[in-house]
Amino acid sequence: MIIAIDGPAASGKGTIARHLAQAYGLPHLDTGLLYRAVAKAVLDAGHSPDDAGDAVAAAAGLDPKKFDETALKTQKVTEAASVVAAIPQVREALMNYQRAFATQPSGAVLDGRDIGTVIAPGADVKLFIVASPQVRARRRVLELQARGEHVDEQEILADLRRRDERDSRRSAAPLVQAPDAHLLDTTHLAIDAAFRAAVAIVEAVRTGRKR
Ligand code: C5P
Repeated sequence: MIIAIDGPAASGKGTIARHLAQAYGLPHLDTGLLYRAVAKAVLDAGHSPDDAGDAVAAAAGLDPKKFDETALKTQKVTEAASVVAAIPQVREALMNYQRAFATQPSGAVLDGRDIGTVIAPGADVKLFIVASPQVRARRRVLELQARGEHVDEQEILADLRRRDERDSRRSAAPLVQAPDAHLLDTTHLAIDAAFRAAVAIVEAVRTGRKR
């Protein structure tokens, strides 16, 4: 079974993806890490994330087994990731790895922005996870505070909106709900309720019921 999960930042998609992978015994790929790793490589080399040549070279030379997730979650890398992700050749360079991950014999769970539309359009189950920008900003603030970072909620909200806009308006694989994706709004759901709702969708699809 291939489960494709898309949605904006802090919608809950990453946590839902991890929990679904665990529940169904499937390998999981957080595809945002790939774009983050490209962004970090470009920044570390002292280059600008909107320099397509540098970003494409970084994407081509990426080793997805060597990710330091903590270093990839900083605000600077987050912002730069959505810039490199808008470069079509960067997306192309990361495509084969993601498709191979999706089509491995065991099945897989992938989460990102274009999984149901571009990477795994034939996925068995597609989820599109959303939540209000205010709730997403609050979640991000709590997450960053738990890591000991001092953050301004209004700034976080502005960052999220800017990133949403960039991810949704770009011409290469924009963030958009696939026509056959199931919408799950987690605005008023705690994580366990959101997970249960996701499982209900997966089970409904698996048992062939129409939703
Ligand atoms: O999911 P995450 O917030 O870690 O993703 C970081 C950035 O990577 C996103 O803002 C988006 O621009 C990009 N991304 C993408 N396609 C994906 C996954 C992430 O464009 N499949």
